[in-house]
Amino acid sequence: MRTDMCGDLRATDIGRTVAVCGWVARRREHGEHLAFIDVRDRTGLVQCVVDGAHDLRSEYVVRVTGTVRQRPEGTTNADLTTGDVEIGDCTVEVLNAAEPPPFPISDRVDADENVRLRYRYLDLRRDRMQRNLRVRAKVNSALRTSMERQGFVEVETPLLWTPTPEGAREFVVPSRLQHGSFYVLPQSPQLAKQLLMVGGVDRYYQIARCLRDEDLRADRQFEFTQLDIEASFVTQDEVLDVISEAVLDAAEAVTGNRPDPIPRIPWVDAMERYGSDKPDLRFGMILMELTEVFAATEFNAFKAPCIKGINAAGLAADYGRNKLDSLTDRAKQLGAKGLVWLKVGDGGALDSPVAKFLSPQEQEGIVAVLRAQPGDLLLLVADERHKVREVLGTLRNDLGRPPVSDGPYRYAWITEFPLFEGLDDQGNPVSAHHPFTMPHPDDLDLLETDPLKVRSQSYDLVLNGWELGSGSIRIHRADIQSRLFKTLGITDEEAQGRFGFLLNAFRFGAPPHGGFAVGLDRLIAILAGEDNIREVIAFPKTQSGLDPLTDAPKPVADTVLRDLGVRLLPPPT
Ligand code: AMO
Ligand code: AMP
Repeated sequence: MRTDMCGDLRATDIGRTVAVCGWVARRREHGEHLAFIDVRDRTGLVQCVVDGAHDLRSEYVVRVTGTVRQRPEGTTNADLTTGDVEIGDCTVEVLNAAEPPPFPISDRVDADENVRLRYRYLDLRRDRMQRNLRVRAKVNSALRTSMERQGFVEVETPLLWTPTPEGAREFVVPSRLQHGSFYVLPQSPQLAKQLLMVGGVDRYYQIARCLRDEDLRADRQFEFTQLDIEASFVTQDEVLDVISEAVLDAAEAVTGNRPDPIPRIPWVDAMERYGSDKPDLRFGMILMELTEVFAATEFNAFKAPCIKGINAAGLAADYGRNKLDSLTDRAKQLGAKGLVWLKVGDGGALDSPVAKFLSPQEQEGIVAVLRAQPGDLLLLVADERHKVREVLGTLRNDLGRPPVSDGPYRYAWITEFPLFEGLDDQGNPVSAHHPFTMPHPDDLDLLETDPLKVRSQSYDLVLNGWELGSGSIRIHRADIQSRLFKTLGITDEEAQGRFGFLLNAFRFGAPPHGGFAVGLDRLIAILAGEDNIREVIAFPKTQSGLDPLTDAPKPVADTVLRDLGVRLLPPPT
């Protein structure tokens, strides 16, 4: 039906007779008969000069034939890729009429999100959404190419599955043939991919859909996609190398530039330096250790196990009394007992309500450790070590973090996570990753005696302050697995009931193995410069988990329930 795409026409096409197809984006009358219409397809807009366009309305579907010509002097449009040319002597064929759209289809006008999602098919006509879908396709394609080049094989795993220990609430599907029994939609292909390793697949990958019934946020949907991998006979370093290669390939495919090699930061260093296990490396403002400086302090607030400070370089003038008060309130909301701020004056003297309580040596210590210069704003917190890290880590992000859409792309590997993230109500340790994560070989002896000190062979990938993915070397030996279950307070019977099929498989020669999963929606959002993953998903759910387009979820007929053997409770009052 067409010879060219609208957005592709250039001065080099002048003189050619062309046919383009698309939607009427805009119509401007020009005198009695003549009108300019902009025709849009997925590549962009082109201006067409039409004789008698009275019956053309916005979003009508048209086929336009005519001759490409230079726009008259003074009417070129530098904002359009096709801004030097127009199509003249046009014949317009209306392929379909359209009702007026509920919102203008333009990147310049932002409509209410609910309306956008109700009419997602119109929203998708916008440039930004077309671009995002294309970024997504490019990332998927680059990842597939990369994984295949690295010897990985794509294997699809079931969606109708059984509980996986990933920690989120699961979606369940009633079985029609086995009343009272349920499938569970997979939170990830975790157990399936470990079975594939027992099955000798050796190098598995999948661009996999995962389902988790959790509270939705900017970086969370019920349904999301992972680049999921698992490999046999690998060390942790080999897994990191494979994933690094793939995600650098993806960034290069989208931006044309290969980001820097990915640094590896042990978890404890990330917490000490950035106060976060997902540090944004695009800016400094490192958490500096001041505990020693105040070892013999007379200042009561600083008689604490740990004191750290950050230097918000050059920000002293920006922070007047009100803003400093709200910073202090923010620190208190985060659980700090208070916040000490100091401004560095022209001569290097410290200006702060608490300066008079600090000895000259302490003041010099602060300036030296924080490398303070005139005009800097210094923020100090004293407390338990974990609290200091958390509060200053958050303030660091509040004060310094650039918008998502600002480059550059700074990936980081965070390694040597603790195996457990704390204790539950019964005093049992809680797995930080999942219960198949291999403890660090040097810490195995601490499993029974000091579990919270045990590091794991697990690792996260971080990009510009977002957690992009996690993985681990898995436990492949029954003896270690059973020690771990004991530590977790999971009985042998319980373990058999929940993951018996995996433990059974492991009795038949499980190879050492490990893997990783990258959250693709997050990776793509960052590469597309979006701060909400909904913008890179064709048909996402709203914050409350609804789909305004289809009205899902909605009731089903009584006959359907009967077939499934399901009876509804009366709605809660
Ligand atoms: P994990 O549970 O950490 O690991 O998930 C890996 C990555 O998936 C993404 N992700 C999500 N993205 C959007 N919406 C969600 N609701 C959501 N939940 C998770 C994140 C996260 O970092 N099986 C293990 C991996 C492994 O050990 O191999 C797993 O799924 O980017
Ligand atoms: P106070 O001794 O409680 O009057 O606090 C004196 C100053 O020190 C105030 O500015 C507090 O915000 C600050 N401050 C108090 N406790 C801490 C703490 N643990 N860490 C950092 N600053 C604190």
